[in-house]
Amino acid sequence: MSDQLNLLKIRRSVREFKDQVIPKEKLKEIIDAARFAPTARNVQPWEFVVITNKERINQLAGLGPNAKFLSGSAACIAVFSTETNYFLEDGSAATCNILLAATALGIGSCWIAGDRKPYAQQAASLLNAPQGLKLISLIALGYPKDENVFKTATKRNLDELLHWEKF
Ligand SMILES: Cc1cc2nc3c(=O)[nH]c(=O)nc-3n(C[C@H](O)[C@H](O)[C@H](O)COP(=O)(O)O)c2cc1C
Repeated sequence: MSDQLNLLKIRRSVREFKDQVIPKEKLKEIIDAARFAPTARNVQPWEFVVITNKERINQLAGLGPNAKFLSGSAACIAVFSTETNYFLEDGSAATCNILLAATALGIGSCWIAGDRKPYAQQAASLLNAPQGLKLISLIALGYPKDENVFKTATKRNLDELLHWEKF
């Protein structure tokens, strides 16, 4: 298996992190990878906010039970988008790039739902987002507590979901 394909297969949602800072350069590298995601008509409607301030991370962790584990993370990336026709797809593609770039750097990550969540507006206000920007996702980042976390995930079997030519 090529290293690139292996990267896709070892990415896991990581929700427990070591108390270890992620160097700013690595965070920048992750955002750099995000901007290469595909977008409909190449509009690149996104904005990324990197949050490392503990107090602000804790405020985001308090947004809902599904975001609670953010409090143990070293950083959070908030992905926003202007409301284009395909903002959700575009923002999700960027979110996937972030998860994969983090994995490539040995950093654990987990996608936290943004758009359509009752706290989306509150998260936007906490981060001073300009009017009209939609929250796509919050991504928790940190060095995994379990150093062996990056291994092939258990997923639905290929034979069960692959259909050649027709169902
Ligand atoms: C759109 C989306 C929203 C998600 N929201 C959350 C969330 O709010 N909180 C959370 O802990 N995990 C969230 N996840 C992570 C999923 O729970 C996780 O991807 C899934 O259980 C599969 O595990 P894996 O990422 O390790 O393959 C979300 C994933 C996606 C794609």
